[in-house]
Amino acid sequence: MRIIKANTYEELSKIVAGIIVNQVNEKPDGVLGLATGSSPVGAYKEIIDIYNQGKVDFKNIKTVNLDEYRGLPKDDDQSYLHFMNVNLFNHVNINHDNTNIPDGMTEDIYGECQKYEDIIKSLGGIDLQLLGIGHNGHIGFNEPASDFARMTHCVDLDQRTIEANARFFDSVDDVPKQAFTMGIGTIMSAKKILLVATGESKADVLLETLVGEVRADVPSTILQFHHDVTIVADQKALTKVIETGFVCE
Ligand code: GLP
Repeated sequence: MRIIKANTYEELSKIVAGIIVNQVNEKPDGVLGLATGSSPVGAYKEIIDIYNQGKVDFKNIKTVNLDEYRGLPKDDDQSYLHFMNVNLFNHVNINHDNTNIPDGMTEDIYGECQKYEDIIKSLGGIDLQLLGIGHNGHIGFNEPASDFARMTHCVDLDQRTIEANARFFDSVDDVPKQAFTMGIGTIMSAKKILLVATGESKADVLLETLVGEVRADVPSTILQFHHDVTIVADQKALTKVIETGFVCE
């Protein structure tokens, strides 16, 4: 895995944005897998800046998002669709018809998951998948489990995830208890993976991701088996990784 250390969140955001913009410029009709959470917000802002300078074009880009809460209407201000619209899609020339995110309101859970996998397949797969990481090693909303989920599915959220995400809601009781997420198999099928992590609270899980035994109860450890993973993290998130002797760029 390639590990890039950033000194500040601003620097981290510029590096992540640069990698995504290069991908778009190399393959202007390619497929980006996108992520929510606080970690990539700065990178999305940087991408918008680069777009406003006329240095990137999203006209023919397609996107698939990692996950969506179950039970939140599309226009709810905590839905991940709303997050993507506000943080990126509304500010660049992407065709909204080319953006995909699971429908959190569907009654047909299995059908929605199958449809999402079919969309990704029909687009030719994901060229670059952006990931954040949960404190428990979740990627997308693949929570610690006894098996790695192969495809898009609906999960019960871990109590730790519900508590971590409560900061975005009025109270912890308002956080949805379930979500749709690409499976580990879906994520691992992406041609390239770009993981972004910030802050001391991610230091343990980042080390575990890199050197821990690959096991489904720390889902991010599966990334050790992917051939093209770049991790961009700040000094605090990398503390333990650096102590262990990993060389960062
Ligand atoms: C949520 C998202 C994940 C994200 C994680 C970490 O649970 N479903 O995709 O990686 O939060 O978020 P943050 O970047 O805010 O720490």
